[in-house]
Amino acid sequence: MLYNYLKTNIKNMKCQCDENCIENLDELLKTIDEKYTPCKECSKKTFKKAMPLRKQIKLEKLTTQYERCPTCNKRHIDVVMAHVLKIMIENEQIIKTASIRKAAMPLITPAIELTQPPYLPERSLVIITPQIDLKTSQQIYEQVPEIKAVIKGDINQTLGIKDENTQKHNYQLMSGCPIRCDIQKTDKGYIPIYKDQSKLHIEYAKSNNEKIEQISQILTNYENPKIIDAMCGPGTLGIYALKNNAQKVLFNDINSDSTNTTQINLKINNITDNYEIMNENILDLPNLVDEKYDIGFIDAFPGIDVDKYVNCLKKICNEVIII
Ligand SMILES: C[S@@+](CC[C@H](N)C(=O)[O-])C[C@H]1O[C@@H](n2cnc3c(N)ncnc32)[C@H](O)[C@@H]1O
Ligand SMILES: [Zn+2]
Ligand SMILES: [Zn+2]
Repeated sequence: MLYNYLKTNIKNMKCQCDENCIENLDELLKTIDEKYTPCKECSKKTFKKAMPLRKQIKLEKLTTQYERCPTCNKRHIDVVMAHVLKIMIENEQIIKTASIRKAAMPLITPAIELTQPPYLPERSLVIITPQIDLKTSQQIYEQVPEIKAVIKGDINQTLGIKDENTQKHNYQLMSGCPIRCDIQKTDKGYIPIYKDQSKLHIEYAKSNNEKIEQISQILTNYENPKIIDAMCGPGTLGIYALKNNAQKVLFNDINSDSTNTTQINLKINNITDNYEIMNENILDLPNLVDEKYDIGFIDAFPGIDVDKYVNCLKKICNEVIII
């Protein structure tokens, strides 16, 4: 349902939540440099992440206005997470002696690689925590304006479909809107990748993305290759190849949440042609694809044996790259 909504509203970039969660590339890049930087009046208050919060502050001090900058309205990420943790402790969702680190995994959105801890504007942080009830999640969303979504999930468990023998595993959206954006810096410019963070795996935005660097290197051996991004996820690698020198990319993933997300990311990256999208098990591709491709990308989850994928992709690709 989310994706149908996004697809029909992609032109005016409206999200399912009716807020401006989805911005085009130009809008994103215009604001990203200042998004997380403090102004001169911002508070320097931080917390020790591994020390019990209540040893550092009286919890009742942590309110919506606590250490909020009167000029730019932002708060340091530690202050935001301390506020979240206070609500979790009050609702007995976590032990009283918990530290910020134990509260939740924070993911900024839009995400770029930062050199300093971020000062957060409104609705710019998605948090993932293993145990939380609905009431607490809603309180966090209502009382902590920086929070964009609260997601319940175990970050050690693979999100989506691990392989063709495994059932889909999604996290649970508890409050807010789970759409996040990772902005990948590449030698062909910035590539924003949107995804529903309760459905697709976490990928950190890094300035040196080894996967992109590996592909960039391979592409130098070809003039205009035809490529299969056979386990495409939200589409990052194939989109990069199209921004580089690929003449065509066939995007494929066994998870329809991935292929729907890829479709959205192609639009956001202003790519309108030279691609095809399939939602199949990679092992079935040789029976379904009748053209020959130059390169096939295999980017499986860690720990998955990729030999069978390589053997099958070799039937339709001259070169197979394990990413
Ligand atoms: C590590 S992720 C891919 C990441 C992606 N390349 C990126 O850059 O974000 C692995 C992907 O493989 C997909 N997958 C798992 N088993 C598959 C199969 N048998 N056939 C096709 N896709 C599969 C998963 O749905 C998942 O999206
Ligand atoms: Zn939204
Ligand atoms: Zn400020």
